[in-house]
Amino acid sequence: MMIQPKIRGFICTTAHPLGCYQVVMDQVNYVKSKGQFMGPKCVLVIGASTGYGLASRIVTTFGAGAKTIGVFYEREADEKRTATAGWYNTAAFEKIAHQDHYFAKSINGDAFSHEIKQQTAELIRKDLKQVDLVIYSLASPRRIHPDTGQVYSSVLKPIGRDFTSKTVDAFRKEVKEITLSAAVEEEIANTVAVMGGEDWEIWMDFLAKENLLAEGVTTVAYSYIGPHLTYPIYKEGTIGRAKDHLRMTAQQLTKKLQNLHGKALISVNKAVVTQASAAIPVVPLYISLLFKVMKEQGTHEGCIEQIYRLFKDHLYSPHGLGCDAEGQIRIDDLEMQEAIQEKIAALWPKITSETLTQLTDVEGYCDEFYRLFGFNAKNVDYEMDVEAKMKIDSL
Ligand code: NAI
Repeated sequence: MMIQPKIRGFICTTAHPLGCYQVVMDQVNYVKSKGQFMGPKCVLVIGASTGYGLASRIVTTFGAGAKTIGVFYEREADEKRTATAGWYNTAAFEKIAHQDHYFAKSINGDAFSHEIKQQTAELIRKDLKQVDLVIYSLASPRRIHPDTGQVYSSVLKPIGRDFTSKTVDAFRKEVKEITLSAAVEEEIANTVAVMGGEDWEIWMDFLAKENLLAEGVTTVAYSYIGPHLTYPIYKEGTIGRAKDHLRMTAQQLTKKLQNLHGKALISVNKAVVTQASAAIPVVPLYISLLFKVMKEQGTHEGCIEQIYRLFKDHLYSPHGLGCDAEGQIRIDDLEMQEAIQEKIAALWPKITSETLTQLTDVEGYCDEFYRLFGFNAKNVDYEMDVEAKMKIDSL
């Protein structure tokens, strides 16, 4: 079949297998061009199929020669639908890794469940014995609690009062005003239950109990802070509360990992286009402006550039982790540079539907959005018939 993008709001319901292959290959080539470093040996990536988790898997494999197990929740193709992008990404990743003789196996299912944790433990025990790095990179709209069966849905809302701001429909090139109503207590608690640190802690406790964590183990979860402009919807909103909880969980986990001389860390990453960030109101407009300003400064980065820096310059640097006062690694340093943020603050009020394409890089935003699903990749003929069904080697 011929596969074309079908965009519905902030998601694309199709994905292109050859395009995803190319996008993954581009990331592999980036890492190879930057060179190898002394890094982790056996890595578990939870949320490994797209965005920051996929980039972490690529960097540890091709940058440090690590063996990886990736956990994710993706859908295979059937008669009517293509697979999800994360499925194709993983098929591509494993193919490329295996060609280069790297160990890479995957587990597809709900990482919040006991069953998937159990399956992962068995695979680690069989093939890796222990892991020396656990990356926690889940982004999910809901979580079923593994003990109670309660379903928690996260919301992206301000706290305390309603918030009105500009947002963009990037594909229609329309800037609109949006008012987001303040979250009620239950919504805050639900968002923390989904995107906070509880599940990360359950994973680490379980792996420790099963003796699957190596001496000196490191675990890292990803967070975001962003500028004042997005504080009401991000840092000071429901998702920000979940990130606060994640940060406290890191401190808790570091204490628990002391007997292994291990540590739990938070890396604060830059805003990039992923399926998760596209869903947050206001943020896509900010990202479009950020891209414009950072590209002009020559400091623009995507997931792979960020994560390569995280590993090479922080996590496995001979010069130490380089954390901020709160103990977090800040690879959002370039995004948060004063000159960049001053420019953004000055341009923000001037953005309208009329000035959008001139003042922001909304085209770059859309291009990256398409690439998330394997569209707009170089050297791919989108007019050609392709087989939507594709196996992941290890599944
Ligand atoms: P993403 O949407 O690209 O990736 C999410 C991953 O989680 C995918 O591999 C997906 O399969 C997996 N997943 C979701 N639900 C699952 C479940 N129930 N079981 C197993 N796997 C599941 O997200 P992105 O943007 O890479 O986010 C990862 C982390 O990075 C999040 O904590 C996010 O807050 C953080 N972050 C994202 C930024 C951004 O601009 N996108 C900026 C800074 C931090």
